[in-house]
Order: sequence, then structure tokens, then C-alpha cells
Amino acid sequence: EMMKEILGLRALETELEQKLGVTKVVIVPGNSDEEDWVKQEMGQACVRELKSIIIPSSVVAVMGGTTLAAVAQMMTPDPKVSQSIFVPARGGLGERVENQANTISAEFADRAGAEYRLMHVPDQLSEEAYSSLVLEPSVKEILDLIKTSRILLHGIGDATRMAARRSSEEPFMNKLKREHAVAEAFGYYFNQTGEIIHKQRTIGLQLDELDAGKHVISVAGGASKANAIAAYMKHRPSDVLITDEAAAKGLLHNE
Ligand code: BG6
Repeated sequence: EMMKEILGLRALETELEQKLGVTKVVIVPGNSDEEDWVKQEMGQACVRELKSIIIPSSVVAVMGGTTLAAVAQMMTPDPKVSQSIFVPARGGLGERVENQANTISAEFADRAGAEYRLMHVPDQLSEEAYSSLVLEPSVKEILDLIKTSRILLHGIGDATRMAARRSSEEPFMNKLKREHAVAEAFGYYFNQTGEIIHKQRTIGLQLDELDAGKHVISVAGGASKANAIAAYMKHRPSDVLITDEAAAKGLLHNE
């Protein structure tokens, strides 16, 4: 904490809270684009935040990505957390297994001594498959649990980079370009003003279900993500943003 004063990060946090309309911003030193330990620092900050707000028997929904994977690694046992249950927030989104929401939620739970549930759904669903799958009792059960989640942890990505990572087809890449996509979060793509320009079809939590009753913690850093974070927060300012110094400076110097 003293370190933050020395580095002037405390002042940046306040400035960023005002600029983004986010209730609480936590900034860790460094640039996670360049150094991996910065993701771990964001991870520690996120775990601290989670432990400070969680009440026993909470359902915690988590998304995928390398940042959330690093956050899960930082989880440690805690009596309040061990009575909670971790679930993936949405179905598969074309990530490598270690970066999938299922894997990450299991990792969180294992380290916390808590429970988890997996969601077994394929990545790209046709409309028909989608409508019949949500009626399957085992799928319905986890979907109901996800709906009751009070806490959501998710990452934010650069739109083009995320689409490429998901091996998207060229027509879709062109659409993103045409419509000036800059941000991606849990399968939604946004332009710089925060409008949704595409939504990937998958089951689980939908963006319009993030009502005031859900405590949303976004974790994203690196200079390259400044625009993406700004765009996403225009759509829906999170309750908490955990980021790094490089992204924070980029965010504050833009516009
Ligand atoms: C994805 C999430 O798995 O990870 C997205 O669905 C997020 O919400 C992305 O944009 C971020 O990935 P990373 O690896 O940059 O943390």
C-alpha cells in the first residue's frame, strides 16, 4: 500500500474511477504485455478483492482467458470461499483447455477448497442444437446455478486478437474491421463507443443479465488493452476493475 503512494498509483486509481465510472479501480505496477509477473500481481489483487466481498455459499461465475487463468493460480484457502461454488459463466468460446472457463473455475475451487460445476457444451452451436441443449436436465441445472451467481470475474480482450485466437473465419474478421470492433468480453464484441457489434452464441450468462445484483470484477491489463477496456466500460462500467499501470496510463492519456 505504501508502495502505491510512492509510485503515485493511488492517484491514478481515483482518476480512472472517475473517467470510467467504475466504483473501484485497483492498479498494480508494470505492463502485463511485457512481463508475466504483472498478471500474477493482478491475480493477487483480484483474489484479495474476491475474499473481501464474498459471503459464504456464494456462487462465483468465472470466464476464461490467460488473465483469469493467472488469477486462479493465486487463489488460496479461505473459510468463506470454501463454502462457495465456482461455475463457468458461459459455454466454450474456442479457447485452449487451460484458458477455458471450465478449467479455470475448477482451478479456483481446488485451490480454495471449494466446490465447482462443469458445463459440457460444444463451442459453435446451431440454433436448433442450442434450443434443445438448454432443455437437457443436466445443462438446465448448471444454467440455473449460473443465473444465481452474485459475483462474476472476467477478462477483457482486444477484439481482433480474440477473434484470431478463436480461429474465426475471414468474413467475421472483415466484419470486425468494417464495424471498428475494439473490445471483446465473454463472447461479445464492442466498438469504441461500447456498442455491441456481435454476440457469439453460447449458453450461460448473457450480458443483459448483469444487473445491479451482480458484482462484476473485470481483470485486464497491458498497454495494448487500453482501448478495449475503455470501450467495454462504456457499455457497462464494472463494479471493480483490476488493471496494471501500463493500461491505466494508456486509458488516462486517450481522448
Ligand atoms: C476470454 C474471455 O476467455 O478471455 C474474454 O471470454 C476475454 O472475456 C479474454 O476477453 C481475455 O483473454 P486474455 O488472455 O487476454 O486474458
